[in-house]
Amino acid sequence: MPTIAVIGSQWGDEGKGKIVDFLAEEAQVVVRFQGGNNAGHSVKVGEELYKLHHLPSGILRPGRLAVIGNGVVIDPGVLLGEIDDLKRRGKSVRNLKISDRAHAIMPYHKLLDGAEERLRKSGKVGTTGRGIGPAYSDKVGRLGIRMGELVDEDVLRERLEFVIPLKNKVLRALGSETVVDEKTATMELVDYGRRLKPFVTDTVSILHKAIDEKKRILFEGAQGTMLDIDHGTYPFVTSSTTVSGNVASGSGISPNALNEIFGVTKAYTTRVGAGPFPTELHGELHERIAEKGGEFGTTTGRSRRCGWLDLVVLRYAQALNGFTGLALTKIDVLGGLDEVKVCTHYKLDGRKSTRIPSDLRSLERCEPVYRCFDGWEELQRSELKAIIKGGFSQLPKSLRDFVLFVEKESGVRIALIGLGMRRNELLDLRRKRR
Ligand code: IMP
Repeated sequence: MPTIAVIGSQWGDEGKGKIVDFLAEEAQVVVRFQGGNNAGHSVKVGEELYKLHHLPSGILRPGRLAVIGNGVVIDPGVLLGEIDDLKRRGKSVRNLKISDRAHAIMPYHKLLDGAEERLRKSGKVGTTGRGIGPAYSDKVGRLGIRMGELVDEDVLRERLEFVIPLKNKVLRALGSETVVDEKTATMELVDYGRRLKPFVTDTVSILHKAIDEKKRILFEGAQGTMLDIDHGTYPFVTSSTTVSGNVASGSGISPNALNEIFGVTKAYTTRVGAGPFPTELHGELHERIAEKGGEFGTTTGRSRRCGWLDLVVLRYAQALNGFTGLALTKIDVLGGLDEVKVCTHYKLDGRKSTRIPSDLRSLERCEPVYRCFDGWEELQRSELKAIIKGGFSQLPKSLRDFVLFVEKESGVRIALIGLGMRRNELLDLRRKRR
């Protein structure tokens, strides 16, 4: 395994955490390069369920270097909570490295996130409320506080003296009932800085060295292609660049240091928050998929919207990211349905369309055109071992037809198939013939 990125091809929650955790077995370094604690990865190890927001999933594998890169925005209190939780459960965090260039999410960012959302009337983004957008805005507006500054008490105090009163003015102007208490917030942030100091370092140099030493590095994407600030369904997107191009700038490596790009797609589609979703399902079918797939946000607990797999979206993601392999996750969730559908193209104003328009009113008018597949029986846990050992041919025929169709239509080889929630419930086709 050389350097490899794992990228969501839909609206996030594709099951990247599990794929990263699986691939991390072969990796020596695992890196996050964008997003913040709006992400949420659930990984089941034995009977223990871990919910990670800031920490790279690779942290659960002993001996791996876990890096939070410069492109990430970090809520110091949340990160410390995750570190403490892992320590309590006997996991080591000795190998955690946090970029001194990553920006910190401040208490006023969270308040601003809420205040701005409340002011948007019909166009609410449905953010996770974690302060992600305001933190990235301040980064670009050159008002941000970086982790290297957070851990330097004198610099931190000086920056906060200027920025807290300024942000409180903005909060009041936005009608926020709550503002930041400068004294309390400063004390708390100074304490966070002290506790995080041992982890904060120049991760860019660490990664350059790792590349020179030919270490196996795994870059863990958060959110998904359709939530990308440039290429997603703007403004119903997150505030970072989620596509593979950002692996380089979000971690400080050169683009040609990346060897492989794995796209992750669910066998269906989900989306949290507002915005167009052409293949969305409602009623009984939505409920069935949501319940069986456990489609509730790891971060907010919100119920996810569910729909059929959309190949227009997948082909778009392929073109933007250049996937060299696909992981098709949660195929077990569709087991037991009479019929499974896949959207092959849209009909827009009576015409066939195979592209994602930038104008959301047009995307809202896109009607999905489906290819239908016979359903397959539910896969029993007792069968999984034999399927995983026997390979692709052991899967039910209609499921194989579905997989081969997705592979042909997306133009990317399906390398992994997720058959269940556990770490080992994955069919690994990377080195196998069909
Ligand atoms: P923000 O990233 O909190 O600003 O939220 C912006 C949009 O991205 C909202 O629709 C969120 O629901 C969505 N979003 C952010 N992170 C995730 C994620 O990890 N999974 C799914 N949706 C997300």
